[in-house]
Amino acid sequence: MISMTRLRDDETARAIGRALLAWYVLHRRELPWRQSLDPYAVWVSEMMLQQTQVATVIPYFERWMQRFPDVATLAAAAESDVLHAWQGLGYYSRARNLQRAATRMVEHHDGRVPASINALRALPGIGPYSAGAIASIAYGQAEPLVDGNVNRVLSRLFALRGDPNRAPLKAAIWDYARALVSAAERAPGDFNQALMELGATVCTPRAPRCTSCPLAALCQAKKLDLVEQLPELPARAKATPVHMVAVVATRNACVLVGRLKADAPRWAGMWLFPNAEVKSGQTPEAAVRDVLFRTAGLRGSPSSIVCVVRHSVTRFRITLDAYRTLEPSGVARALSVAEIAWKSPMDLAALAMPAAHRIIAERVLSDSAGAGGS
Ligand code: ADE
Repeated sequence: MISMTRLRDDETARAIGRALLAWYVLHRRELPWRQSLDPYAVWVSEMMLQQTQVATVIPYFERWMQRFPDVATLAAAAESDVLHAWQGLGYYSRARNLQRAATRMVEHHDGRVPASINALRALPGIGPYSAGAIASIAYGQAEPLVDGNVNRVLSRLFALRGDPNRAPLKAAIWDYARALVSAAERAPGDFNQALMELGATVCTPRAPRCTSCPLAALCQAKKLDLVEQLPELPARAKATPVHMVAVVATRNACVLVGRLKADAPRWAGMWLFPNAEVKSGQTPEAAVRDVLFRTAGLRGSPSSIVCVVRHSVTRFRITLDAYRTLEPSGVARALSVAEIAWKSPMDLAALAMPAAHRIIAERVLSDSAGAGGS
């Protein structure tokens, strides 16, 4: 392994920078946020790209920039519009944090994305990675960043043993990233993006394309035949299967949806069909009756299945059975939710819903169109 001391005052760091930048010029993907260095666009794209693949992010980014083209527009938007624009991307705290941070930028930074690492870090949702990304890409500062791709590339390049997300390797990788970006002769933002790009397209978790790698000659893992063994990430926790029901209660051609409270642990402020886990020993029918009563104070039993949605949330593999409940009795009240509403299937499109519930809503709409409804 190359020691940090050697890397700092060594030609190696400069050689890595040169090789990587030369490769990036030829192989970089043309992505919409790479067309300008508008700090706002850089910030939005980096928030979207955390936890989400590039291909998924592209249409969201383009719609977002149309809808909220600058900091001031985002700060002034209704939270429901912000969540609506984000729906389907998951990890919704990112969207709420974007808006909170935009408000702070209006109040304290003249409506601009600040340039200093410390000012960036003080904003909601901006951690070490995002601060490094904005400072380097938008403002050309020699600040490092480390994400999953960078962890992999640097673990292999320097044959680093241990879990890159934990001490002591975590700090060491940030040190390597800092030493490298400081030595890069051209734009630090391009250097950082090149590192991530290499991890995403060449130095991939499985079957890395070492024969196409601009750093192959310098790669310690390749030399020691450790490429497949690094990085040393802990085995993933096994997915836990979970059975859930959602209730599509209908009355006068409308369906019942509830908006989650602001302190809900997940999907706060978004609209969902009443839903709950089917507990062990409970039938799905009983779970439907129970959750309809607890959520909205209504009494009714399921009559048919609308659809079954399979999706994952963190390490839970969820099977969500959506049941139709016709004309439940009682007056709907918001018991365990912030707001309860009867909506026509067409009006559901305007609500921010998590992906699984959006699938149910689409199905409800197509069923109602098929049945000659509106
Ligand atoms: N992943 C997250 N941000 C990225 C960027 N700017 N370039 C390449 N990959 C990324």
